[in-house]
Amino acid sequence: MAKVVLREINKEIWPRCMELTLKLEQGGLVAPNFYRVHEFKAEPQFIQVAIFDGEEMVGYAMYGVDPDDGKYWIYRLMIDIDHQRMGYGKAALEEIIKVLSDQPGCDEIFVGYRPENFVAHAMYLSAGFKRTGSMLQGEYIARLDVKELKAQVETEEARLAAS
Ligand SMILES: CC(C)(COP(=O)(O)OP(=O)(O)OC[C@H]1O[C@@H](n2cnc3c(N)ncnc32)[C@H](O)[C@@H]1OP(=O)(O)O)[C@@H](O)C(=O)NCCC(=O)NCCS
Repeated sequence: MAKVVLREINKEIWPRCMELTLKLEQGGLVAPNFYRVHEFKAEPQFIQVAIFDGEEMVGYAMYGVDPDDGKYWIYRLMIDIDHQRMGYGKAALEEIIKVLSDQPGCDEIFVGYRPENFVAHAMYLSAGFKRTGSMLQGEYIARLDVKELKAQVETEEARLAAS
């Protein structure tokens, strides 16, 4: 299993984030880097992190509470083209879920992805997200039930402790 560390983006590391790239066909699946950097300046309410394996930056994510609905959302998660398919996406998603689950009142987490983004679909579903059935701005919305996830983890820990 790949191991990653999330480091909050600051002025020192954000220029390196600009160098993270996606495959051409993935360019339309998330907002381009240019837009994200604009967000870095203009949307301080969201937490933006670079995803590291040791000292190597392998990806980027943005998450937080959306002021429009008061719910926790993972808005962006991308892994650099040269580091995809190595388990980093999955590992980063797990870390983000851990961070958000510890936040007050975080009982559910939402994500959105384009219908043709079958990789994101597989990744989110394998982490426990389920499609809500609704769409927003052309994206499928999926939801993770954090309470249910915590209960599953506790049951598993109790089982391991008893064995
Ligand atoms: C989605 C993304 C973050 C996945 O990152 P990654 O590091 O390549 O993914 P992982 O190696 O951790 O794989 C996670 C799961 O995705 C699926 N997956 C990844 N690449 C895949 C591919 N090329 N084909 C099919 N499934 C794939 C698999 O289910 C995999 O789990 P498994 O290995 O247990 O079967 C990456 O492809 C990306 O940055 N895409 C562009 C941005 C984007 O679409 N972000 C999500 C929406 S915001």
